[in-house]
Amino acid sequence: MQRDAHLNNAALMARRRAALPSGLGQSFDIVCERAENAEVWDVEGKRYIDFAGGIAVLNTGHRHPKIVAAVKAQLDKVHHTCFQVLAYEPYIELAERLIAKAPGDFPKKAFFLSTGAEAVENAVKIARSATRRQAVIAFGGGFHGRTLLGMGLTGKVAPYKAGFGPFPAEIYHAKFPNALHGVSVADALASIEAIFKYDVEPERVAAIIIEPVQGEGGFYACPPEFARALRALCDKHGIVFIADEVQTGAGRTGTWLASEQWGVAPDMITMAKSMAGGFPISAVIGRQEIMDAPGPGGLGGTYAGSPLACAAALAVLDVFEEEKLLDRSKAVGERLVAGLKKIAAKHVAIQDVRGLGAMVAVELFQGGDHARPDADLTRRLCAEAARRGLILLSCGTYANVVRVLVPLTASDALIDEGLEILGATFDALA
Ligand SMILES: Cc1ncc(COP(=O)(O)O)c(C=O)c1O
Repeated sequence: MQRDAHLNNAALMARRRAALPSGLGQSFDIVCERAENAEVWDVEGKRYIDFAGGIAVLNTGHRHPKIVAAVKAQLDKVHHTCFQVLAYEPYIELAERLIAKAPGDFPKKAFFLSTGAEAVENAVKIARSATRRQAVIAFGGGFHGRTLLGMGLTGKVAPYKAGFGPFPAEIYHAKFPNALHGVSVADALASIEAIFKYDVEPERVAAIIIEPVQGEGGFYACPPEFARALRALCDKHGIVFIADEVQTGAGRTGTWLASEQWGVAPDMITMAKSMAGGFPISAVIGRQEIMDAPGPGGLGGTYAGSPLACAAALAVLDVFEEEKLLDRSKAVGERLVAGLKKIAAKHVAIQDVRGLGAMVAVELFQGGDHARPDADLTRRLCAEAARRGLILLSCGTYANVVRVLVPLTASDALIDEGLEILGATFDALA
C-alpha cells in the first residue's frame, strides 16, 4: 500500500502534542489506522494485538460485523431527534431488554446518557431526589469519571483530582476491602461506621456507590459478603445502593452484570463502555420508585441515548446471545489466568494473578515485596510489550497492575499469541 510519508507515528504525535493539551494523556505514541476484532494496525502498517479493548469498551471486538450493520441500517432511518423531543423504538427496546437482564426481583426502569461519568452523575441525582438526602459514600481507590461529581466520588487524587477542586460537598470515602493490601471486609465496614460517627449521620446519606470490581483502581473484586453487608446497611438506613458497572458490565466478568454474582441486588446500576461496542452510550437502571422520583425535565441530554448507539447496543445484546459470549468470558478469563500464572511462576515480581471472568490482572512488586509496588516495571512492561506488538494497559492505586481487557471475540490462538509476547516481555525486563 502506498503510504503518505507524513502519516507516520512520530510526525502525527508531534502534531498532536502541538495541538492538544498535555492533560489528555497518551498511553502509547501509536496512531491507529484500522482495527478488526482484537487486532489494530497503526499508520505505518504495523500490527498489534489489542489487550486493551479501548479500556473495556470492546468486549465484542473492533467493528463487529453485526454491530456495524445495525448502525449502518439505523443511519439510513434516523440518526438524531433528541429523545426527549421525538422518541424512537430502539431506545425503548433497549431499556426493556436491559431491565430484563438486571438483577433484583422488583419493577425497574432505565434510561440513557452518553458517558459513564454522566450515568454516575444521574444515578446520584436520582438517589438524592428519591431520598431527599444529600450525602454519598464512595470508596478509596474507586474511579467514577472526570466530571466534577465523578472526580469527587473518585478515590484517587493523582492524576484524576489534583488541582481540580473544590469538589461537590457531602462526599465521603470509606475503605474498599482489599486483602492483598491489608484491608479486610471487617476493616472496610468499620470505615463506614467511622464515617457515620465522625462525618455524617446515616439518615442524611442518600447513596453508597461501589464498583463490583475496581477498574482504574486495580481490578480488585468487591467480595460478595461485603456487597451483602452493604445491602443490609442500606436497607437498615434507607440508603440507595448503587453498583457502578461502567467497566464491569456488558459481560466482562462472566455474567452480564458483575453484581449478579453478589446474591443481593443493588437498587441502581450504571453501565457504559462495552454495552454498545464502542458507540457512546451509558445507562442507569434502577428500582422503579427511585427512578421515577425526579420530575419531567430533570433527566436527559441532547445526545443521550442516540439512535445509532441504541442500535449498536441492541446488536451487542444479540451478539452476546448468538455467540454465547458469557460462556466465552469465563473461558477467556480461565485461559488468561492460566497463561499468566505460568509467567508468574518464572517471575517473583508477579505476586498476584486475579480475575473475575475475563477481567484479569497481575500485580507487580519489587523483588516480590508487598511493601514495594513496582510502578516502574509496570510502565516499562507496557511500553516494551507495545514495541513487540501487544497493547496492554496498567492501572491501580499504586500504578503496579497490568490489566487485560482483550475482546471476548478474540480467538484462543490470538490470546495465546498475546500471552507469549507478554511472557517474552517479562523475560526481557524483569
Ligand atoms: C467504574 C467507572 N465509572 C465511571 C467511569 C467514567 O466513564 P466515562 O469515561 O465514560 O465517563 C469509568 C471509566 O473508566 C469507570 O471505569
